[in-house]
Amino acid sequence: MKNILFIASEAVPFIKTGGLADVVGSLPKCFDKKYFDVRVMIPKYLCIKEVLRNEMTYIDHFYMDYLGQSRYVGILQYVYEGITFYFIDNESYFWGEKPYGDWYYDLEKFSFFSQAALSALPVIGWKPDIVHCHDWQTGLIPVYLKDRFRGGEFFRDMKTVMTIHNLKFQGVWDVKTIQRFSGLPDYYFTPDKLEAYKDGNMLKGGLVYADAITTVSSTYAEEIKTPFYGEGLDGLMRARANDLRGIVNGIDYDDFNPETDPALPAHYNSETFVEGKAAVKAALQKEVGLPVKPDVPLMVMVTRLAGHKGLDLLCYIARRLMWEEDAQLLILGTGEAQYESFFKDLANQFPDQVSAQITFNLGLAARIYAGGDIYLMPPKSEPCGLSQMNAMRYGTVPVVHATGGLKDTVPPADENGEGGLGFTFQSYNADDFFASLKRCLGLYNHNREAFRALQKRDMEKDFSWDVPAGRYMEQFRNMLSW
Ligand code: GLC
Repeated sequence: MKNILFIASEAVPFIKTGGLADVVGSLPKCFDKKYFDVRVMIPKYLCIKEVLRNEMTYIDHFYMDYLGQSRYVGILQYVYEGITFYFIDNESYFWGEKPYGDWYYDLEKFSFFSQAALSALPVIGWKPDIVHCHDWQTGLIPVYLKDRFRGGEFFRDMKTVMTIHNLKFQGVWDVKTIQRFSGLPDYYFTPDKLEAYKDGNMLKGGLVYADAITTVSSTYAEEIKTPFYGEGLDGLMRARANDLRGIVNGIDYDDFNPETDPALPAHYNSETFVEGKAAVKAALQKEVGLPVKPDVPLMVMVTRLAGHKGLDLLCYIARRLMWEEDAQLLILGTGEAQYESFFKDLANQFPDQVSAQITFNLGLAARIYAGGDIYLMPPKSEPCGLSQMNAMRYGTVPVVHATGGLKDTVPPADENGEGGLGFTFQSYNADDFFASLKRCLGLYNHNREAFRALQKRDMEKDFSWDVPAGRYMEQFRNMLSW
């Protein structure tokens, strides 16, 4: 039996701001329990729902020197669906309404968390063989394991994996600040270690010192070795190419299941989806104030309204699309003001075709995945992306930019809907996006049978964690020569 500890800043069902939480919360359940004891450690944020916080049990606490003061570190535990979650408690750090806020303060918060997480392990008395770190918030952990935690027997043989969920966010500030928060000596602040472009960089620490690096799709693993996607670290990614591996994410097949999803007004599977989806679509059109028209294609999108999600492309073609096509567009999400007002204006201009739901609503999101016909996902880059898989599982055909995990999970179909799982465009520009969307609408409008066949293939494709969890187990076995 080998012990694996995931350390991260978020995990479902406790706290979620993005796909990271889905992965950290659902992957550990999928390991073979005969061989792996996988546990998870995250901060105990005060913004975790009270019903969940109330179920946590206190294990122990200690005091840790940090930034010249002795700080309280509480350890709590919650066994959820068979997985042990540990929580690091310190209310002076983890009090806010959201897990993240101010960049500068977050750097201090997660430096503290990283040190506290490792310090807590001997107190808990559970020794991981591998510590699996996720994103910049835990980037210092592999460094600490080679530095101050190296001495004792307990930590000596611990191996580390650093997983990149998104290279865009690296935890960067000037060297002095990162040095102060991390407590690491000058030795580490050179361009071959934690320094990058004269700043201190926490993720880079993890990428230099981890025994292995993974990222969330094979295509992204290749892309980040190039300047366009490398976010300034492509050189390091090339240098560590032998230790870098892409493992595409899965989705939680219990949570995302059109046969049981409690948010849906009708349930269905790959045999009954034509009627099932029609019922959800009608209810959805009503819910969001669109005319209930069963045969008008409903294009949908659930997204953060941020530029890199490809909204610039959609804005560019949206009016033309509405003029040229008898189609509906439904968007759910919040974000940058310019996009919020663009889609509100668009909905005002085309009230029978466009609905802009500028809000965060998980139930509505589920009804959109199920009630839509076509799912739009044109981001500039996407390390993996989970919503295209949710959409396909619910029988909604994706139109995507062939980048990162989108390329790996949505092989392109031809204009007859054959040979793939969705419609894709290669180069990031609005004309190509428009053309792929037109191909998809053409299939829906003129060859409904082929469109149905494509939907069925999407629903039957296996996007569960079975295969990816197997790859992680293989990765860990290799690292432990076991
Ligand atoms: C990040 C990435 C996204 C990925 C998710 C989970 O949010 O941007 O592409 O699916 O992490 O790995």
